[in-house]
Amino acid sequence: LDAWDLVVVSNRQPYRHTYDADGEIAVDRPAGGLTAGLDPVVQETDGTWVAWGDGDADREASDDANSVRVPPEDPAYTLKRVWLSESDVADYYYGFSNRVLWPLCHSLEEKITFEDRHWERYREVNRKFADSVVDTIESNTVDTDSSVERADSDAIAETVEGDTVVWFQDYHFGLAPRFVRESIGDEALLSQFWHIPWPEREVFRDCPHGAELLRGLLANDLLGFHIPAYCANFLDCVSTMLPEAAADWEDWTVSLADAEHTTRLRAFPMGVDTDRIAEHAAAPEEGFWERFRADYGIPDDQQVAVGIDRLDYTKGIPERLAAIEHLLEAHPNWRGEFTYIQKATPSRTEIPEYRELGRRVDRGIERINERFGTDEWQPVIEIDDYLSEEALYGLCRYSDLAIVSSLADGMNLVALEYVSAQIDRTGVLLLSERAGADELLGDAAVSIDPTDTETFASRLDLALSMPDEERRRRMTALRSVVSETNIQSWMADVFEATLTLDQAADTTT
Ligand code: G6P
Repeated sequence: LDAWDLVVVSNRQPYRHTYDADGEIAVDRPAGGLTAGLDPVVQETDGTWVAWGDGDADREASDDANSVRVPPEDPAYTLKRVWLSESDVADYYYGFSNRVLWPLCHSLEEKITFEDRHWERYREVNRKFADSVVDTIESNTVDTDSSVERADSDAIAETVEGDTVVWFQDYHFGLAPRFVRESIGDEALLSQFWHIPWPEREVFRDCPHGAELLRGLLANDLLGFHIPAYCANFLDCVSTMLPEAAADWEDWTVSLADAEHTTRLRAFPMGVDTDRIAEHAAAPEEGFWERFRADYGIPDDQQVAVGIDRLDYTKGIPERLAAIEHLLEAHPNWRGEFTYIQKATPSRTEIPEYRELGRRVDRGIERINERFGTDEWQPVIEIDDYLSEEALYGLCRYSDLAIVSSLADGMNLVALEYVSAQIDRTGVLLLSERAGADELLGDAAVSIDPTDTETFASRLDLALSMPDEERRRRMTALRSVVSETNIQSWMADVFEATLTLDQAADTTT
């Protein structure tokens, strides 16, 4: 088996150094999400992970090459940090990434704020990351100790010239692939996964510097999205906005007139670590749920619905609260019969729209509790406390209902986590038809349009009334999809497609 060097590039880092109470350096571990999912794979490859290093402890822990071996107790790969200045963070991260691309790709154009300096800094930071990747590739050429194993070396040898695979993650890096390509030509395979939706061309055409972004992404050999619709939207944008691009709708490939490579688009629906989640869900001791309910004052005989979100305006939390309020108004039989638990983690709070959302959610919760709450029952409980993974997945296991009501969402991994934690198969998933997960999970979930309050409320009624047998039937179907498309198979598919680019042509549709 031949060996490959893997370089992963993401904005968030998998390990963060901090100072503990005694001033000693400690390490925060990845908890959930993309970084946690990728970490074990990168550990197996002894590759390099390039990410934003943040704070004095990160600097102190890193060597002269800005690198540190991780995980600390059993070092397996190199985490290479890129340092960002305050204005980098303000204009690249909070600016172009999160005030332009994030709302734009979720088709929430009214939330976009664009300033020229956002774009300039986005470009500069993409250049910094690209330089760090190029340094890594150059030092790897000298050091031949590389190790991503591949299954079919002959097929790959015909199509690939380099021995490094660079794998960019997400919308923070729309330009870095082009910068890397300009420096190293065909010396490495470039692959990118875009974790958020790609919008329709009527939306994307308003993207400031949209054509330059498209060209940046087309420096990749492979560009992955969660679902085929996002690939199609991307092709549509390329066809209409880049006269120099030849888009092939049959093979889902694009070639730029001046480029020597072709970019292949492919859908890889991302999954979660189902086994690990099921283990956590099974771990809480006897009496966990009774104690949890008692701690939050939830009466024993009530159903519990749960929503777990980053506090982000794409997640449709106010819309969810509106539906709950409508349910309690239109179906008074549910008053005192169920409690909704909202676990929302603050996010990107430097951006005014996120702070405003926090206030809206608080107001919505207060309103429902004032209107319908009694001495014995609070309809909505907001949990601000830190929950361990065991407690979080325990909550998912025992909740009768999970509500995912995104206005737009690349996939929504929370929906998949809920299903993975449902080891007793007694819960119901209410899922927005606008989340990528809806395409994956089909009609075993109860589908909702988050903006249609009345129908949303009647679906809540349906879910709460659903007989056990139907719950079990639906959850069994959901669990079989989620365990087949888990994080391990997602990564295996992405790597296989990256390393066997010629064969991927047959499976694009
Ligand atoms: C989304 C993005 C990720 C991002 C995460 C958390 O899932 O696709 O790239 O890391 O949100 O957001 P943050 O801005 O805190 O990294």
